[in-house]
Amino acid sequence: MRAWIVYESMFGNTRTIAERIGDGMVPDAEVTVLRVGEVIGRSLDDVDLVVVGGPTHAHGMSRHASRASAAEQAGKDRDLTLDVDADGPGLREWFDALGQVDGIRAAAFDTRVDAPEILTGHASHGIAKRLRRHEFELVAEPESFLVDKHNALVHGEDDRAAEWGEAVVAATLVA
Ligand SMILES: Cc1cc2nc3c(=O)[nH]c(=O)nc-3n(C[C@H](O)[C@H](O)[C@H](O)COP(=O)(O)O)c2cc1C
Repeated sequence: MRAWIVYESMFGNTRTIAERIGDGMVPDAEVTVLRVGEVIGRSLDDVDLVVVGGPTHAHGMSRHASRASAAEQAGKDRDLTLDVDADGPGLREWFDALGQVDGIRAAAFDTRVDAPEILTGHASHGIAKRLRRHEFELVAEPESFLVDKHNALVHGEDDRAAEWGEAVVAATLVA
């Protein structure tokens, strides 16, 4: 099974989670982890499973303005480092450019602050909605991975991501 993990990330948390999800999918899937800027315009014809994730910004998926705000925060806070290609496009731009696919299996995830979901919101539900709109077939519920108030991944979330990746592949194999 060929799997793509497509992510966007400003500070690196979502990239780390994307990579750990990929670790959990091996060896059952041949995994490629791709920043969203790398997949815009690329065909999904040879891909069996697409896992898509991004950071939660203003309760949902990032926008150009929220990414600019994240970059501004990184400029002011020495503890925040901008990820490679953080100035690239976001998932919304990819979805806007993407045509309909024919039932490719998919799952959505996000990173968000460790607080009640009603306060934080979650990007993964917006991602899942767009996946359905493009006729992907979702094989798992949207999942969130948590960061603390210092923007560091909560202990154990990277291992949980690997477990989730394994579960997503298992669900794809029986779907
Ligand atoms: C502009 C901006 C807005 C944010 N809004 C939210 C939010 O509404 N809810 C939340 O849980 N986290 C929010 N966060 C925190 C991020 O979701 C969190 O730090 C995430 O792990 C960042 O992922 P990244 O390191 O891949 O960029 C926000 C962060 C930024 C920079």
